[in-house]
Amino acid sequence: MKIVEQIKQPIAYEMELFEQKFQLSMASKVALLNRITHYLVNRKGKQMRPMFVFLVAKMVSNGEVSERTYRGASVIELIHTATLVHDDVVDDSNRRRGFFSINALWKNKIAVLIGDYLLSKGLLLSIDNNDFDLLKIISIAVREMSEGELLQIEKARKLDITEAIYYEIIRQKTATLIAACCSLGAASVKPDSKHVETMRKFGELIGMAFQIKDDLFDYGNTQIGKPTGIDIKEQKMTLPLIYVLNHASKKDKNWLINSVKNHNKDSKRVKEVIAFVKQHGGLDYAVTKMKAFQLEALELLEKYPESAYKKSLVLMVNYVIDRKK
Ligand code: IPE
Ligand code: IPE
Ligand code: MG
Ligand code: MG
Repeated sequence: MKIVEQIKQPIAYEMELFEQKFQLSMASKVALLNRITHYLVNRKGKQMRPMFVFLVAKMVSNGEVSERTYRGASVIELIHTATLVHDDVVDDSNRRRGFFSINALWKNKIAVLIGDYLLSKGLLLSIDNNDFDLLKIISIAVREMSEGELLQIEKARKLDITEAIYYEIIRQKTATLIAACCSLGAASVKPDSKHVETMRKFGELIGMAFQIKDDLFDYGNTQIGKPTGIDIKEQKMTLPLIYVLNHASKKDKNWLINSVKNHNKDSKRVKEVIAFVKQHGGLDYAVTKMKAFQLEALELLEKYPESAYKKSLVLMVNYVIDRKK
């Protein structure tokens, strides 16, 4: 059995029902909007975030989920989708999930508005059902994601990112939403329990590993359904490059910075930078750091009693690191 099927097995029923509910949660009376949300629903991603929500909920409650859990999973996936639609505008990217991005097909104006629409639909789904405790968890994540994206832009402009700031950026832009998945999963069935904070931390750690993996994909040539090699074009310095910069001679460092600053649209030069980073152990270092986050996340699971849900969460943590897209 494929690893993803194995992970999904104890939440197969929930994921199926989730998909129906998620699709309904986007509906609109405006024809153009409906056309675009159909396009989005038909090109679904890995759905790792709802999987985290259901697995965590079931692990902390011995297999029980509630309508709150379903709504929470839908809100998170709506917000995730909204941020990807906006992210492709911000990153000027034309591919997503193996197809054209929304901005590539309908232009930036529409992509911005679609993102806003999905965000509002998410927030209203919580509000209309009085899920205010879940809404708080989600709203913190939304704020942090915006802050993370802006901090990233600031650092890309000044080219003064450090390893510590890189971790802060990825914690805000990515880990915080996965943290929200896990704490919300717990809060949906066991509000005010200690699980809510333990699972938030668990999600945050795995979210850090998740984004390091995503940044490693950018250095590869494998087909992942979205462009690779675009980070340097966007002057975005991620962990492999940061490490190499910190360990390079003054001359090499100047060459690297000059490449990113003044030759970032020159494909040949970008390829040379990528090759340099690989040769100087940048990818290996990032892999080591990614695995350290993975281990820390796994440790937090240890104190939970054995169950099918916990087994799947362990597999999920490993999948974040081993995935091919
Ligand atoms: C992509 O997330 C955005 C990042 C935080 C790197 P996913 O890789 O989970 O995207 P989909 O939903 O599977 O397309
Ligand atoms: C992920 O950022 C999107 C958000 C967390 C908002 P990236 O720009 O690094 O992700 P991809 O590679 O486009 O999915
Ligand atoms: Mg981005
Ligand atoms: Mg992007």
